Amino acid sequence: MSFPITRLRRLRKNPILRGMISETTISADDLIMPLFVCPGTNINNPISSMPGNSQLSIDLLVEECAKILAVGVKSVLLFGIPESKDETGEVACGHNSIVQKAIRAIKERFGNDILIVADVCNCEYTTHGHCGTIVDGDVDNDLTVVTLAKQSLSLAQAGADVIAPSDMMDGRVKKIREILDENGFSQTPIMAYSAKYASGFYGPFREAAESAPKFGDRRSYQMNPANSDEAMREIALDIEEGADIVMVKPAMSYLDIIRRTKDTFNIPIAAYSVSGEFSMVKAAAANGWIDEERIMMEIAMSIKRAGADIIITYYAKEIAEVLNRK
Ligand code: PBG
Repeated sequence: MSFPITRLRRLRKNPILRGMISETTISADDLIMPLFVCPGTNINNPISSMPGNSQLSIDLLVEECAKILAVGVKSVLLFGIPESKDETGEVACGHNSIVQKAIRAIKERFGNDILIVADVCNCEYTTHGHCGTIVDGDVDNDLTVVTLAKQSLSLAQAGADVIAPSDMMDGRVKKIREILDENGFSQTPIMAYSAKYASGFYGPFREAAESAPKFGDRRSYQMNPANSDEAMREIALDIEEGADIVMVKPAMSYLDIIRRTKDTFNIPIAAYSVSGEFSMVKAAAANGWIDEERIMMEIAMSIKRAGADIIITYYAKEIAEVLNRK
């Protein structure tokens, strides 16, 4: 049946009808807010390229979690800025490492009212800024996987609810699953950064986490932005190794990858709308060139429409505030 019998504009006539036939929804339940924790007390170091975000000492981090929970966002993703760094990221594997301490403080205050996702990687903790142990000028896969497993166990022991490896080493999900299971954490899910691209969109994050590589780049372990078939292989392998949730990262320039993942696999999908995506919108809004709230909601909607179940976004709190107003 075509025009004039069919007129698609009939169902766009008023807001109630439009709402009724809306195919995609966003809820605060879908959102995870990334946070950066640093040593000290009463420290709030604003991240200049990510307005509204700061490196926070544990006391202020706990207060920030209270604000996030108050608007209805129930999950945070933690990144640590350590006191000192070393060659292999060992500083991130101890009972008193920065993120472990932060997890205990958050859990002491909020218990199971908050879900803590712990990012697992070495780049914030190594002197050279790479995501693993360097051998002959490149990150050694199998040595790095050992450090990642150790870091994961320590984070789980501190009380992390979900372990999220972001390093892109081969075989790390398997090793992490094994070490968690052997130590009584068989119920702790793994959210794997499965299709993580070597992206220019991480620029502001590297200032925030003080994790820029001191030489070279991450192209020998993160994916080539040109590739989609390879993303499906990465995801298939992570699922086989025991990933409970798979992630596509960045989000906005990789919506096709999210959709393809949704059509190919039957597993929850997280999408990480990364620092550069956030900063671009903030910068354009600060110049008065775009309507920030509208663009923020449209981007989040596009990520859900593409097929993501979970959105990790620096806009989590602001999105929830908009949802609460409606
Ligand atoms: C650590 C890590 C990065 C991000 C999340 N985990 C940076 C990187 O790979 O260089 C990026 C997040 C963002 O840009 O918001 N490996």
